Amino acid sequence: MTFDLTEEHLAVKEAAREFAQSHLLPDAIERDTESRFPKTQVQLMGELGFMGMMAPAEYLGGGMDTISYVIAMEEISKIDASAAVIMSVNNSLVCWGLEKYGNKYQKDNYLKPLASGKKLGAFCLSEPEAGSDATSQKTTANRQGDHYIINGTKNWITNGGTADIYLVIAQTDPAKGHRGISAFIVEKGVEGFIVGKKEDKLGIRSSDTHSLMFTDVKVPVENRIGEEGFGFKFAMETLNGGRIGIAAQALGIASGAYELSLAYSKERKAFGKPISEHQAIQFKLADMATKIEAARLLVYQAAWLKDQGMDYAQASAMAKLYASEVAMEVTVEAVQIHGGYGYVKEYHVERLMRDAKITQIYEGTSEIQKIVISRNLLR
Ligand code: CAA
Repeated sequence: MTFDLTEEHLAVKEAAREFAQSHLLPDAIERDTESRFPKTQVQLMGELGFMGMMAPAEYLGGGMDTISYVIAMEEISKIDASAAVIMSVNNSLVCWGLEKYGNKYQKDNYLKPLASGKKLGAFCLSEPEAGSDATSQKTTANRQGDHYIINGTKNWITNGGTADIYLVIAQTDPAKGHRGISAFIVEKGVEGFIVGKKEDKLGIRSSDTHSLMFTDVKVPVENRIGEEGFGFKFAMETLNGGRIGIAAQALGIASGAYELSLAYSKERKAFGKPISEHQAIQFKLADMATKIEAARLLVYQAAWLKDQGMDYAQASAMAKLYASEVAMEVTVEAVQIHGGYGYVKEYHVERLMRDAKITQIYEGTSEIQKIVISRNLLR
């Protein structure tokens, strides 16, 4: 077992850190306040290779390992968790899903522009009545000759308004339950596909989250991913990897808040000395750093297992469960260390605290991660 990062990993870390400091940090607070999508930054992330890091070079991706991806996610999330989730959905849900299960036509037509960052992807599983209970899909896709007709509504879709390519999960045979669910590629602009209301969120406010409406949307059979009935398995397998990305996002939010707190504690004086010299603050910093390190080990382990081709479903659920708890705990402490300054928008920690909450909810709530873990343990 080695804990060393390779030179390539260190280079990815430096590139992501430099990008985040130069291009995300300056307007992060304004974008959050205005709920403004980081359009130019996402374009630049594509040019720098952050939007399709793990996709093979032949499909215009970076051909990197999952460790590199989580390193980049951590660095970007330290500064801007909204930019990070946009990146994460494109990389681990959309590009990975297409790379792993798409056919040659789908990879050439859809994976290439997504992995190179020329287009943006969205993953559409959640519905008004199918969030945690993802098998209860109400969106239907009825086959008519050489195409399907999709009807239904999707909710809380990250990149919902800004994406060009949507992976949509729908029921093709309700009698078969989750084995009657299929996955489709739908392009923005097709008739009957409407982008609905933008959500006004607590955190990750500059990522755009929408409901989507499909009314008699015609999708060619060649846009179905895998066989009919494979859609639920497709979604679950894709989410196993997606959870590593969100775990890395949570880790980044926690370490961003910790780094700010450490620096602040050395500057801020109370009772005649920097607050870092008070044991009350030292104990908080020690707890924060220890939890972050433990979360990092779980995140790296899940990424490593995936890179080795080993089973990583349980490890990714554990990493997401723990890292998201750490993100919440550490950001609350960061606000406490900052005192009154932590509670105002001028300082980044209140934003990080709001951003942390979503990591316990999306790509499966903490309770869902516990279901995945305990089922694995009891199997
Ligand atoms: N990996 C692989 N396969 C899995 C799996 C996993 N983690 N979890 C379930 N499956 C498979 C099962 O093996 C089973 O397949 P078979 O019938 O072939 O054996 C099938 O899926 C059905 O499984 P269950 O009977 O366990 O289904 P269930 O309804 O009892 O529970 C669940 C499944 C784990 C609760 C699942 O519904 C789930 O993960 N829900 C959460 C959904 C989720 O994460 N949504 C996130 C939306 S995307 C998002 O958030 C993106 C974003 O915006 C950032």
